[in-house]
Amino acid sequence: MEIHKYEKLWLAGALLLIVGFIATVSYGAVGAGVEMIGNDGGQVDPDSLDQHPKFGEPGTYASEDGDYDVYVVAQQFAFVPGTEEPVRVPANSEVTFHVTSRDVIHGYEIVGTNANTMAIPGQVATMTVEFNEAGEYGLLCNEYCGSAHHAMEGKIVVVPQDEWNESMEVN
Ligand code: CUA
Repeated sequence: MEIHKYEKLWLAGALLLIVGFIATVSYGAVGAGVEMIGNDGGQVDPDSLDQHPKFGEPGTYASEDGDYDVYVVAQQFAFVPGTEEPVRVPANSEVTFHVTSRDVIHGYEIVGTNANTMAIPGQVATMTVEFNEAGEYGLLCNEYCGSAHHAMEGKIVVVPQDEWNESMEVN
């Protein structure tokens, strides 16, 4: 059987496309560092967050090893903290966010960075971020969560290390 030259070319092109598509999908699935929320953050009872030692009083906590933990409750339609008052963290420190939801699924995206997770009732999502520069970052909910989803936003203020140390001394 003889295959025409142009037909061979088309076959090769089509095969190349298929390989290319598989490569893109594989890269998106495993190469880009995108994961589902793991189980490492642990679980909480979304109905009794107020009794939780950290989620009952969400905010920034210094840990013994010099790093920081930020506990955030997402709810319709605010981040606590983040929306009414900004999350405050020091620059050049390892900051681990612990994010959960009180009601429905929300998103927690630090705008302009690759820090982005889901906030699921009952589940604690954790992600560790280091902010190298002081400044402000926007927070966005990127999971549809109800009528005011589009207005659910907040702010992170990254404080220069020296100012942070001073403010800690005052307390
Ligand atoms: Cu919360 Cu969308």
